[in-house]
Amino acid sequence: SSPLRLGIAGLGTVGVGVIRIVQNQAELLSARTGRDITISAVCARSQKDRSVDLSGYAWEDDAVALATRDDVDVYVELMGGENGPAKASIEAAIAAGKHVVTANKALLAHYGQSVAEAAEAAGVAVRYEAAVAGGIPVIKSLTEGLAANRIERVIGVMNGTCNYILTRMEDAGLSYDEAFAEADGLGYLEADPNLDVGGIDAGHKLSILSAIAFGTQVDFDGVELEGIGNVTIEDIRNAADMGYKIKLLGVAQMTGRGLEQRMSPCLVPATSPLGQLVGGTNMVVLEGDAVGQIVLRGAGAGEGPTASAVMGDVCDIARGLMMPTFGQPATTLRRAPSARAAVP
Ligand code: HSE
Repeated sequence: SSPLRLGIAGLGTVGVGVIRIVQNQAELLSARTGRDITISAVCARSQKDRSVDLSGYAWEDDAVALATRDDVDVYVELMGGENGPAKASIEAAIAAGKHVVTANKALLAHYGQSVAEAAEAAGVAVRYEAAVAGGIPVIKSLTEGLAANRIERVIGVMNGTCNYILTRMEDAGLSYDEAFAEADGLGYLEADPNLDVGGIDAGHKLSILSAIAFGTQVDFDGVELEGIGNVTIEDIRNAADMGYKIKLLGVAQMTGRGLEQRMSPCLVPATSPLGQLVGGTNMVVLEGDAVGQIVLRGAGAGEGPTASAVMGDVCDIARGLMMPTFGQPATTLRRAPSARAAVP
C-alpha cells in the first residue's frame, strides 16, 4: 500500500525525536502498520543545525503551507502555543482533509471541542497522545483499553518540572527559588515558566483527560488551579514529619454538584505510589468501575518519550484507526456543570 507521508512543524526536542524514530525504525514501523511511514516536508522557525539529517525533506517556512501540501497525509504539529500558527495550521490541515497529530496541550485545552467538531465533519483523525503525560499512553488507555468502563476518577502528577522542583526541595533541602533555578538550568521550564509552576500546564492536561473520562466538553476554565509557588521548605518538612509528601496533584471526578477538576499542591502518603514519585516523572491513576484502579508511571517529557507518543498516534493513523478525538463523537460530548461554579 502507499506510504503514509508526514509533514512536521516544529523541530525542537520532540520534532527531532520524531524524525529519529522515522529514520531509525522504518522497518519496524512498516511491519507493524503495513505501510511505510515517510516525511515529505518540515517547518521550523530557523534552519539551524539540529544533529539530524533533514536533507531528504522539503523545507517550508510557513506552517499553514506545510500542513496543506499535496504530499502530506498527516500534519504533525509540534510547535506548541495555544493560539497563533499552531491553531491556524491545524485548522488548515483539517480543512484540507489531512489527519493531525499534535502534542499541543494548551491548544486542546482551549479549542479541543471546535477542533474535534471540525475533524469529525472533515472525516479526519486528530490524535494527541503526546499532549498528556508525555510517553505514558494515558489517552489510549482511556479511549481504547478502558472503553467499557465508567471512569470514576482520574488523579495525576502531570507536570514533571513541578515534581522535580518539589523533589529537590525535599531531597536536597533546596528553597523553592533554588530548586526553580536548578530546573531552569536543566532546561525543564516552559518558555513561560508560570505555565509549569502556576499549575496551568498540568491543568491543561487534566482538562483534556476529564473530557475523555467523563464524556464532557473540555472545560479548562472549570479547573480549580493552584501552583507550587507558595510551597515552602517548612511545608515540605512538616508534611514529611507526618508521613506525607507534597505533590502538585490533579484530581477529576464527577460529583453530585458537577464535574470537579482540581490541580493543586496536595498531601499524599509518603509510602503510596504517588508519594514515591520522584524527579521529573509523571504518574496517572485511573479508576474505572469494572477495572478498578490502574497506575501508569513514566516519563512525561523529553525527546524519546514524547516522540514515542507522537509516533504511536502516527501508527494508529497508518492502520486506519479513526477513533473520535475525545473517544466519542464531539457532538455527543456534554457541557458539564462545574463543581467549582457551585462553590460559593
Ligand atoms: N513542562 C512540561 C512538564 C513538559 O514539565 O511536564 C511536558 O508537557
